[in-house]
Amino acid sequence: MQQDLSCLTVRITPEGEHMSASPNLTLLQCLEQQGVQWPTSCRSGTCRTCTGQLLSGQVRYDMAWPGLSAEEKADGFILPCVAFPVTDLVLKDPFSD
Ligand code: FES
Repeated sequence: MQQDLSCLTVRITPEGEHMSASPNLTLLQCLEQQGVQWPTSCRSGTCRTCTGQLLSGQVRYDMAWPGLSAEEKADGFILPCVAFPVTDLVLKDPFSD
């Protein structure tokens, strides 16, 4: 069942497409509901397959600490499968490198 995605926006660079997001869904759920391809595996914040990089914005985690180092967090890396959007986000396209 799809939920309302109307509160926040996510933009994936470099294409710049704007999508909707909800603070009540993980970022991965928001992306998948709108047909965005994103690498995933465990969907529980441990395998790091879904690692992405925030260029702006903030997310929160319900788990004590997802599998990211302090340095990665400082560089904007996030785990979309367990990250909930808090603000509008700009994400680096994981397939752009
Ligand atoms: S899919 Fe495994 S950490 Fe996100």
